[in-house]
Amino acid sequence: MTLPDLPCAATRTDETIRLELPEPVEPLDLAALFGNDRVVELEIGTGKGRFLLLAASARRDVNFIGLEYARAYAEKTIERLGKRGLTNVRVARAEAADFITRRLGDASLAGIHVYFPDPWPKKRHHKRRLIRPAVLSEMARVLRPGSLVRLVTDHPDYAAVMRELFGVDPRFADESGSTELWQLPGMESYIAPGVTNFEIKYRRQGRPIHRMIWRRRESG
Ligand SMILES: C[S@@+](CC[C@H](N)C(=O)[O-])C[C@H]1O[C@@H](n2cnc3c(N)ncnc32)[C@H](O)[C@@H]1O
Repeated sequence: MTLPDLPCAATRTDETIRLELPEPVEPLDLAALFGNDRVVELEIGTGKGRFLLLAASARRDVNFIGLEYARAYAEKTIERLGKRGLTNVRVARAEAADFITRRLGDASLAGIHVYFPDPWPKKRHHKRRLIRPAVLSEMARVLRPGSLVRLVTDHPDYAAVMRELFGVDPRFADESGSTELWQLPGMESYIAPGVTNFEIKYRRQGRPIHRMIWRRRESG
């Protein structure tokens, strides 16, 4: 299947997009980083950057940060976004739990996207999973009340763990039944084939796709 792509820009923006994390380690001033005070959404584990490319192109009124700890994927994402001349997106080569904990201030984000996080299927590796209680607490801290965490996985056991951890956390409400929340403004036609490379691949293989959405409650 040929997927729609976006035209290249005359001016590349790779060096604007590349987010080198400053020392000392402290919460980033996001308005200074982007040069405006628009809302900021975070994608964890960009892979080759398909979601960020589509989202940052379609939603110019939103700033995006992408985190990817594999150097080759981080560089690929920066290259793809830079070719399109995008300026409302930054990509850091960083580990997500550490970035959220040490680089983001309270209520600084308007959304979090996690698409196909590594499932670490072996029991002895479960502690490496991104979705764990300490990270949920940090997500709750950095999210503005009312904002959404969107999660997609093909892994049934990890999906069950995610549902359980978010489900017992009083700071989050289950919005997974609200399918219209997957219709991101301006992105409807891109969601149909799958919003990331892993989703496209796994749907072709006929794997089940588990989607969920959790809303940060007003209190807690
Ligand atoms: C299975 S791939 C999915 C990539 C992309 N989201 C997609 O759906 O096509 C998971 C990606 O997340 C990255 N990743 C996993 N854990 C991470 C973490 N804790 N911090 C930053 N990146 C992470 C991996 O390097 C990998 O590129």
